[in-house]
Amino acid sequence: MSPAQAPQGAVADNGWVTSPDTPDALAPGAPGALRPRLPSPLREVTDERFARHGVRLLLKRDDLIHPELIGNKWRKLAPNLRAAAGRTVLTFGGAYSNHLRATATAGRLLDLPTIGVVRGQELADRPLNPSLAQCAADGMRLHFVDRSTYRRKGEPETLAAILRATAGEDAYVVPEGGSNSLAVRGCTALGEELSDHGGIDVAAIACGTGGTLAGLAAGLAPGQRALGIPVLKGGFLGAEVRTLQAEAFGGPRGDWSLDDRFHFGGYARTPPELDAFAADFERRHGLPVERLYVAKLLYGLVVLAEEDAFPRGTTIAAVVTGRPLAKT
Ligand SMILES: Cc1ncc(COP(=O)(O)O)c(C=O)c1O
Repeated sequence: MSPAQAPQGAVADNGWVTSPDTPDALAPGAPGALRPRLPSPLREVTDERFARHGVRLLLKRDDLIHPELIGNKWRKLAPNLRAAAGRTVLTFGGAYSNHLRATATAGRLLDLPTIGVVRGQELADRPLNPSLAQCAADGMRLHFVDRSTYRRKGEPETLAAILRATAGEDAYVVPEGGSNSLAVRGCTALGEELSDHGGIDVAAIACGTGGTLAGLAAGLAPGQRALGIPVLKGGFLGAEVRTLQAEAFGGPRGDWSLDDRFHFGGYARTPPELDAFAADFERRHGLPVERLYVAKLLYGLVVLAEEDAFPRGTTIAAVVTGRPLAKT
């Protein structure tokens, strides 16, 4: 579909395609302090790097779902917090994990104890970095483990030892990145929101653990496809997404694929070229571009458009899954 054929109500000049402001749109059972803005807004941007290839770009603003629990964090955590039913929530992450920060924030908002198991025993003796300091300020109890223990955290004995060491035997355990079956099923709503908009052909998303992609793909309508841009190096994500879908739905769901070329060397690698691209995108479109995930997604989409990887007439919805960390 070309911009000229935009659906009724669309504003081609960087306006809102939909601008729902639905404070009463509580997800079923969502805790009050986590009241989301759903469906998240969908906004069209005019960008000649897409337009000259006959491609239309929409931004699915999941970063606006909640002022503090941003993007896919809300979609993945909300069903788990409901399931935790007031118990301590224990989860895992690296020193800069968005997921750890989001869990700590949710704990503060819901007055729920949280424990963060952090990769890297050596960090225990250093001042906390801003991300971990934020977790601690939100009341998260931090527990540092060596890298080999961290790698084995999925093994029952290792997990049991971690729970004992943290006095978290009764805790509700959420895996690293928050991607368990409840989270994956929570993310189907993202696909469903996009399937409600006739005309979207491709839903594109940056991937870490793949949980958001696994759910998104499952929620799309027939004829729509999901494209994942992994931000980690290693080529393991396809298998992960298949496993997550098997666990959440009992088998494969939806039409999805990955393009592994845009990780820029691996997780948290943000070379100057990527930073310059993101800063330019911010200037063009007034969108704060989170660097670890969203910048890599948008960069990948521009390259793919320039390669004519999308047939003319394609409409892409790029999911804005995060927001840059506030500068301190
Ligand atoms: C901003 C942002 N976008 C995307 C993702 C990827 O989510 P997933 O791990 O479900 O692939 C994350 C994960 O932490 C994230 O923080």
